[in-house]
Amino acid sequence: MIAGSAAGPAETGLTPDQRAAARPVAFHVPATTANLGPGFDALGLALTLDNTVEMAIDPPEAPAVTITIQGEGEAELARDRTNLVYQAAVAVFERARRRVPPLRIHLVNRIPLAAGLGSSAAAIVGGISAANEVAGSPLSKDELLDLATSIEGHPDNVAPALFGGFMVATMDRNGRITYCRLEPPQNLKCVVAVPQYKLATSESRRVLPQVVSHRDAVYNVGRAALLVSALSQGRLSLLETAMEDRLHQPYRSSLVPGMDAVFKAAKEAGALGVALSGAGPTLIAFCAGAEDDVARAMSQALSWSGVESRVMVLKPGLSGARIGPSQHLAGHSPGGPGGASSGAGGRGRGGVGRGPAPRHNARVSGDHA
Ligand code: HSE
Repeated sequence: MIAGSAAGPAETGLTPDQRAAARPVAFHVPATTANLGPGFDALGLALTLDNTVEMAIDPPEAPAVTITIQGEGEAELARDRTNLVYQAAVAVFERARRRVPPLRIHLVNRIPLAAGLGSSAAAIVGGISAANEVAGSPLSKDELLDLATSIEGHPDNVAPALFGGFMVATMDRNGRITYCRLEPPQNLKCVVAVPQYKLATSESRRVLPQVVSHRDAVYNVGRAALLVSALSQGRLSLLETAMEDRLHQPYRSSLVPGMDAVFKAAKEAGALGVALSGAGPTLIAFCAGAEDDVARAMSQALSWSGVESRVMVLKPGLSGARIGPSQHLAGHSPGGPGGASSGAGGRGRGGVGRGPAPRHNARVSGDHA
């Protein structure tokens, strides 16, 4: 059966136009690094490593959700209604006051799970972007950002996952996300060292204090402001000071063995600035050259601390979630195989520009792993 073809508005809540849009879609969603040191819960940068979320509306008699998964987490991620991509998709239909149709979802995961590289933000942004597209784009991108943030709890990963680039994002007094997107410097390289263990964000937030000193708050305000200025002007020599932090990293170091040793080793090898990526345990170094030396130094420092890791050399990701042709669910298109997503992009308020299929831009340094 084809997507939505046998289901009238009574079954799916979709109009004929919306059903015409309900062809399988694929969204490529970037990994993200949040905080960048001092910008706790407010700063985030997209990276050149993508997950792909494909989605199609199944016929009314189909199960509520059918999920297949390739790559990271394929052995452990839920394939039922508790799956985060599905829950994010459901939130879109509910926000648009639509009945939730049976959904078919295929995930190609490249972002390590629970590592501090925004895997949950990618799942949420992929789920809401794909659901909004198959539903005919009832929500604007700003509404998608508000929705994604309400699911994730903070905007610093979901904002760059949705919009790409370097994002400053915060919640206004009405609970809406106010943001500013900056183009990251083109020569910036991001070396990420991903320890081979997982750290849940909830656990990494539990060690944070309820109250911080005025002195530490001032320390971070100055550095966060300096970091935004430095990145917007390409003044990379400021990053060493601009990426220092006193609000979360010192408290989290006990959960991330080797963190301080990696910071020191990366700087000695030529990194411009270093930080814990998001809630960790991934460590990230910004470079403009010497990235292979930095990668090797980070890997060795972790290894000497008894932690195995894999190291990737990435770049800032300029695109956020972007639509592409569906590879795995194309047979579910009303137009048959190959008709996937044709004409489905950019129609509605939250329609997303079509882009080329992403190049997998990560250089995985096997010899550092
Ligand atoms: N800003 C969040 C934190 C990012 O550091 O807890 C987690 O994804």
